[in-house]
Amino acid sequence: MIGINMIRVGFVFSITAVIATAQDGKALFEKKCSFCHASTTDERKLGPSLKGLNKGVMPDAIAKPATRENILLKINDGGGGMPVFRDLLTKEEKDAIVAYAMTL
Ligand code: HEC
Repeated sequence: MIGINMIRVGFVFSITAVIATAQDGKALFEKKCSFCHASTTDERKLGPSLKGLNKGVMPDAIAKPATRENILLKINDGGGGMPVFRDLLTKEEKDAIVAYAMTL
């Protein structure tokens, strides 16, 4: 438990640091992702709800860790019904979306 709480504290500090990015990320998420992914409810749209990514686990059954790297990988490569965003978003846009997604 102590370990998890320390991770949470670290996470809150890093969120404060990227708060401006996370706000841009929110607007981008609404435009590019919210059609298929709920962010405030557990509703399954075309894809799984991304609510709860801040707990560090992807919402699907495979339960991969919801790290920056894994979320970025999914955005770049898509698959399983998700479009490939590799060339549709800039690096900055992807970073902003990932930062925001990790607050959900
Ligand atoms: C056309 C619908 C669609 C759009 C748009 C879309 N996704 Fe997805 N996404 C999916 C589907 C379907 C899955 C499930 C894929 C699978 O099971 O492999 C998924 C899976 C994911 C996952 C992994 C979830 C898990 O539990 O493994 C993440 C993270 C994700 N999407 C993020 C995003 C982000 C960020 C965007 C916006 C840039 C986005 N998606 C846009 C359909 C979409």
